[in-house]
Amino acid sequence: MVNVDIKGCASFIEPAKYEAYVNKALEAFDVLESENGAGNDFLGWKHLPSEVPASILGDIDAICHLWKEKGVDLVIAIGIGGSYLGAKCVIEALSHNFARQLKHKDAPEVVFAGNNLSEEYLAELMDLAAERNVACIVISKSGTTTEPAVAFRIVKQFIEQRYGKADAAQRIVAITDAKKGALKTLSTQEGYKTFVVPDNVGGRFSVLTPVGLLPIAAAGLDTKALLEGARKAENALAVKSAQNPAVVYAAMRNLLFSEYGKSTEILVNYNPKLSFVAEWWKQLYGESEGKDGTGIFPASVNNTADLHSMGQFIQQGTRIMFETVLHVETAQRSMVIGSDEQNLDQLNFLSGKHVEHCNHMAELGTRLAHIDGGVPQMTVSIEKLDAQNLGALLYFFEFACGVSAYTLGVNPFNQPGVEDYKKNMFALLEKPGYEEATQAIRARI
Ligand code: PA5
Repeated sequence: MVNVDIKGCASFIEPAKYEAYVNKALEAFDVLESENGAGNDFLGWKHLPSEVPASILGDIDAICHLWKEKGVDLVIAIGIGGSYLGAKCVIEALSHNFARQLKHKDAPEVVFAGNNLSEEYLAELMDLAAERNVACIVISKSGTTTEPAVAFRIVKQFIEQRYGKADAAQRIVAITDAKKGALKTLSTQEGYKTFVVPDNVGGRFSVLTPVGLLPIAAAGLDTKALLEGARKAENALAVKSAQNPAVVYAAMRNLLFSEYGKSTEILVNYNPKLSFVAEWWKQLYGESEGKDGTGIFPASVNNTADLHSMGQFIQQGTRIMFETVLHVETAQRSMVIGSDEQNLDQLNFLSGKHVEHCNHMAELGTRLAHIDGGVPQMTVSIEKLDAQNLGALLYFFEFACGVSAYTLGVNPFNQPGVEDYKKNMFALLEKPGYEEATQAIRARI
């Protein structure tokens, strides 16, 4: 379902070195599969596709049904980082590009909040909410993250004022820790339906828990097909082999980084629907590998748009990067370029051709040009951008991330550095308990 092609790296590497890194990746594969490596209390994501309880899917369906009966047409999904990007990337990838503008709507619109602290964003979100029939999914594993907590306070007050407390309790669903945290306490007190983020699943690996599945289902998308695709990938990737796509990807990216100084990986797409898959991937790899003074910096471009902005740098700038191209074999819609009698734009040589054919030629031409310019290329392919293939792709990147981070020698499942900005922010905001830090930070500014 997911294929990795490394031919575009061949001219940059020595085969013996690649073999050595395949062996390192196979050792890392064993660590991941034996579940005795660093961070092994966070491996619950590995078997989510095959073990997600039917009761969870039933509960998710029941909420979507209840909200449909109430006429809900706007679902505000509140969360940040791993409590946001999985749902956002799946909804963007599987929805009509112009779902918001089309008159016919099959499902509520899902919008996101709590992923920034912009006053304008929240004020304008409330302008939208004022015109719509609103429900809310608030997601925070810790239940204490500032950005979603601020957004939720505002959205909760709006929903309670508009619909009353009893109806609000049916319009608000919380996804949080099973036992602890402010959001758990509040949900119990207010009688919200809650879903649990399993203790052994970290935020960036949580897309196939209710964290991702509820917003995705609320948007009317096929969670069962998404899980089915992930399940196929779970089975396929569990086979230890030098040809396992996760092993190949992990081996090559570590080789390029450690032996050839390629410290930036650019995930390239040729379909605007994939731009948030890249954002999700950046968090997955950035938080999992960027620690202990090492790690590949994950970046992304959306082509062909970015060929007209970042293309110059990639072709001829500092030679620090390799590219991983997300290749989608077939488009799911058809659009053929017509002929024109005058041919003023001189495009008649393309008449009768599919737009996607041009897209694929742009992709191929760019890959070859970037190889000539000194940028190694890998390709990660799926057959088409549907729920099954996307589920497989997400699981592939998760599994490969575990293999790759262990190959690099870091714990893939912690993120100690994320706390540092929070300490400074709380000190600056004079949070009780931070008095000393407030004084210290004031002395610096
Ligand atoms: O991957 C992670 O663990 C983080 O990105 C978290 O998901 C993010 O910080 C949000 O945390 P929480 O869900 O506890 O609010």
